[in-house]
Amino acid sequence: MKLIYEQSQPGRRASNIPKPDLPVPEVPDGLARTTPPRLPELAEPELVRHFTKLSTRNFGIDTGFYPLGSCTMKYNPRVNERLVGLPGFRDLHPLQEEDGAQGALELMWRLQEILVEVSGLHACSLQPAAGSQGELTGLMLMRAYFEDRGEGDQRRRIVTPDTAHGTNPASVTMAGYELVGIKTDARGNIDIDDLRAKVDETTAGLMLTNPSTLGLFDEHVEEIARIFHDAGALMYYDGANLNAVCGISRPGDMGFDIVHINLHKTFSQPHGGGGPGGGPIVVRDVLEPFLPAPQIVRDGQTFRLDYDRPKSIGKVRGFYGPFGVFVRSYAYIRTFGPRLREMSEVAVLNANYLLARLRDAYELPYDRLCMHEFVVSARNLKREHGITALDVAKRLMDYGIHPPTIYFPLVVPEALMIEPTETESKETLDAFVDAMLAIAREAAEEPQTLKEAPHGRPVRRLDEVRAAKRAIVTYGFDAHPDLHDEAGASAIEAPKGV
Ligand SMILES: Cc1ncc(COP(=O)(O)O)c(C=O)c1O
Repeated sequence: MKLIYEQSQPGRRASNIPKPDLPVPEVPDGLARTTPPRLPELAEPELVRHFTKLSTRNFGIDTGFYPLGSCTMKYNPRVNERLVGLPGFRDLHPLQEEDGAQGALELMWRLQEILVEVSGLHACSLQPAAGSQGELTGLMLMRAYFEDRGEGDQRRRIVTPDTAHGTNPASVTMAGYELVGIKTDARGNIDIDDLRAKVDETTAGLMLTNPSTLGLFDEHVEEIARIFHDAGALMYYDGANLNAVCGISRPGDMGFDIVHINLHKTFSQPHGGGGPGGGPIVVRDVLEPFLPAPQIVRDGQTFRLDYDRPKSIGKVRGFYGPFGVFVRSYAYIRTFGPRLREMSEVAVLNANYLLARLRDAYELPYDRLCMHEFVVSARNLKREHGITALDVAKRLMDYGIHPPTIYFPLVVPEALMIEPTETESKETLDAFVDAMLAIAREAAEEPQTLKEAPHGRPVRRLDEVRAAKRAIVTYGFDAHPDLHDEAGASAIEAPKGV
């Protein structure tokens, strides 16, 4: 496909702008440009076709099945978009007086109440704009809590398992804590013996996803909570996987003190490619005074913003958080109503259905029932036919399916991490299984087809590291330094799949 600049022909126009009736203002000499801007020149049909073609080259949840483990790409009902577009929500200015924003404040307050209820904790702040920002906020709360108790200098270490999402160690480091890694045992749980040896009076807390990124519920979670609380430390729950347990089991009841919830993953918000998202934080009562300000509170029948919070860690985001995400998530939750647990039950059922149908063709590193996602390994295909998880993922594209997450979690070699979500039909799940089983057969019968996949996509195999590190986002005209600087480009070496 040609770039828009390559289609450009001098003098072509897609619009016919009338001459202005008003006098054209003089641009001061020093400010006026001396050469015309280098804009593409196209007639309207070419312009429309160009952008229409571009719009069909992306894959999204609206174009097909997207079983990207850990990222929870569920279908977002259209009605949520209509609701967020209601003028009362859409046109509201964040600096609107509280009196004129009662509906928006009430929606946020109600959402907080629901998140408090599903977490089994006591108070909520909607401010963080993503799970990772929720993590950082939670760690800042831990620090404020321990400083308030005079233990700030003593408690410098955060424990996190080797299955943790990459954002966990990153947040720990950003928050200025020392990271302590814990191993995973043969059943996919935290290794309790390793844990016991590493928790003491210098520990500030644990950061744990439950179910883990292996899609497994930790069978010792109560014991883990005892170990941390006996040491005077706190328990942080990375609630990115709440989709597995929402309305069924509550982090607060498991012993966690701080939770973040990825609204965009658990409830509803089109996301991907880095956002937008929402990462509200929910805490036990002892941490409530430290929550970001302002807090949204209810006084009788009115709702207001409470800035009078002397122990607050302050603001972590502009205004009150990503409001559009709140409206969509609230709508999704209210659609289920008291049956909210069905969301998680179906997500878990769908994942176990896929697992049951795939387990003979792909290796299963931990032979247990899974939660909302699961990890299989292409290690058998690699050993027997030289086919890797990357080859399987690329070939899936030829079947019209977005690849699952690969090479993560790091503890499973040739990992394929699959998450169907509750929004997919049995027919879609069966089509995915058929494709995965066909690929396993192809691995034995025609491995070269897999090695060269994808065959039917606009681009084949990319140098993903180079594409990420040296993204070319402007047209090069005569000479683009990035296009010609081979020496510089080859200096960027990193293992694939990392
Ligand atoms: C387990 C886990 N923790 C944290 C995050 C980070 O969330 P976000 O992408 O919203 O920053 C994710 C994202 O997928 C996740 O799966």
